[in-house]
Amino acid sequence: MPQLLRVATAGSVDDGKSTLIGRLLYDSKAIFEDQLESVERTSRERGDEHADLALLTDGLRAEREQGITIDVAHRYFATPHRKFIIADTPGHEQYTRNMVTGASTADLALILVDARKGVLEQTRRHAFIASLLGIPHLVLCVNKMDLVGWSEQRFEEIKEEFRQFAIKLEVHDLTFIPVSALRGDNIAQRTANMSWYEGASLLHHLEQVHVASDRNLIDARFPVQYVVRPQRQTDSTWHDFRGYAGTIASGVFKPGDEVVALPSGFTSKISAIWGPGGTAVDEAFAPSAVCVQLVDQLDVSRGDMLCRPNNRPLVGSDLDAMVCWFSDQASLNPDARYTLLHTTRAVRATVARLDYRLDVNTLHRDDTARSLSLNEIGRVQLKTSQPLMFDPYRRNHVTGSFVLVDESTNNTVGAGMITGPTLSPAKVVWHAAAVSREERPTRGRTVWLTGLSASGKSTVAVELERRLVASGVPAYRLDGDNLRHGLNSDLGFGAADRSENVRRVGAVAQLLADAGVVAIACLISPYRADRERVREEHRAAGLDFVEVFVDTPVERCEARDPKGMYAKARAGEITGFTGVDDPYEAPERAELVLRPEDGTPTEQAAKIMELLRRDL
Ligand code: ADX
Repeated sequence: MPQLLRVATAGSVDDGKSTLIGRLLYDSKAIFEDQLESVERTSRERGDEHADLALLTDGLRAEREQGITIDVAHRYFATPHRKFIIADTPGHEQYTRNMVTGASTADLALILVDARKGVLEQTRRHAFIASLLGIPHLVLCVNKMDLVGWSEQRFEEIKEEFRQFAIKLEVHDLTFIPVSALRGDNIAQRTANMSWYEGASLLHHLEQVHVASDRNLIDARFPVQYVVRPQRQTDSTWHDFRGYAGTIASGVFKPGDEVVALPSGFTSKISAIWGPGGTAVDEAFAPSAVCVQLVDQLDVSRGDMLCRPNNRPLVGSDLDAMVCWFSDQASLNPDARYTLLHTTRAVRATVARLDYRLDVNTLHRDDTARSLSLNEIGRVQLKTSQPLMFDPYRRNHVTGSFVLVDESTNNTVGAGMITGPTLSPAKVVWHAAAVSREERPTRGRTVWLTGLSASGKSTVAVELERRLVASGVPAYRLDGDNLRHGLNSDLGFGAADRSENVRRVGAVAQLLADAGVVAIACLISPYRADRERVREEHRAAGLDFVEVFVDTPVERCEARDPKGMYAKARAGEITGFTGVDDPYEAPERAELVLRPEDGTPTEQAAKIMELLRRDL
């Protein structure tokens, strides 16, 4: 059977999304002839040069004309290689909601931009949401290439602009395709109009892209939707029947499996599983709707969950989550109450804290935000009236997501993805010391060395530490590589992990500086905003922060390459390597810049010593 690819599309209304989908259907011959004739006739009547394939996506047109919200429309088509389901999400800004609901099961997100307009806020928003939803593949179709004279330069500009943004997202596979949906260029077939483009046509890409099964087959989770107790007491076969009906969220269940019912914690065994039509089945996977019978009569009710005793979800009432806000009537406010729908459970929830609102253009986290309004995305801490049985969204899309409903209007106002349990309780109080900083024997500060891999940071740091300690100043090195062996061993090199790496090293440096030690941090710390945040934290705590930019040009770093990392990155064995295919944002206001002409690492360390002495 051909494999299935689920595609979510997004773009603004005029980017040509309907035309593109129409063109895919048309060129893959998925349209019935009579429909096609009527499209061609209508187009002719309107004097259009090309058949307006947008006419095939009537639902969208209706929505466009009336300006009303429609739910996600699904379109199906197939080629000999694959079957496709396209979740057609209307593109207007206020339809983020549809993207979230329609895209959550997608394998691939297809985002359209108009070549004339380039990357817009919506493009970034949609890409961000796609990454938030964990959609593994992203395709950016640069449409209307005919209107920019098939310009390779224009395509490259858009590509570069988008790439700069996407680098900060968790997107593992990003493809750019220049197309003209109206004319069919690079849709089903590659076009001669853009001979400079060497990639595949859109359809070819969709047919070939590798989709791993994203079904979670490991964690068996069965949220109970209702308890089945037929009333036919006279019929002896039904007399004692008690079963639990619902849709398997993840994993596999088989008769004979030992299960635990949560939240009660009672265990039993599955005696039988009934599939659709009432036939007994040997095993059942997500997303089958089944009825499960247990050997023992347990007190299980709607909203409870069956899972394996040795593989349980998290259970708790304090959640850390990302929320997309849909309502233009009311905004998300801390302390407001909502109904939270999670699997088959409805509980009351309050927003204990809004940690930050995310600017989707810059990915800046605004922690001064007090609310979320239409289309805004933020990180929140929620408290529920009853515990939920959940998994992080990253691991399980079903048990890791929820929607928020306004209790007074019954409208869905937000959708959320659970990051995990709330880490720090909403109210922690700083516990002050009995010793003031002045009473400590030494004054600490942080010296932050930033620069490319192999720029010489670590060598300079080692020498600086030696000199400081030799002159009686307590100093301690926080080397990025070293800390990644312990404190940061759970972090990789994606943008989020690097930010977290910098945040943690910054926090440790601050503690050391507070304790009276000169903390010497040396790590690439490639993103300016992360370093600025550490600087700001120090400033707020009244501690000195000295940023030193080890400005060794990439060619030089690469020529040195002591660990052979650049060679590996160039060979494609490491991806996302700073300076090769991941950005490095140089400081704009470093206290000191060290260049190769400033001498050997020893001489460079002497320069830092000089600066510190001057400052003391
Ligand atoms: S940072 O970007 O998060 O600040 P850090 O300084 O801790 O990086 O670690 C960088 C070291 O990890 C480099 O010296 C290099 O040896 C190694 N490394 C492995 N993968 C990468 C990568 N993709 N980009 C940069 N460094 C990498």
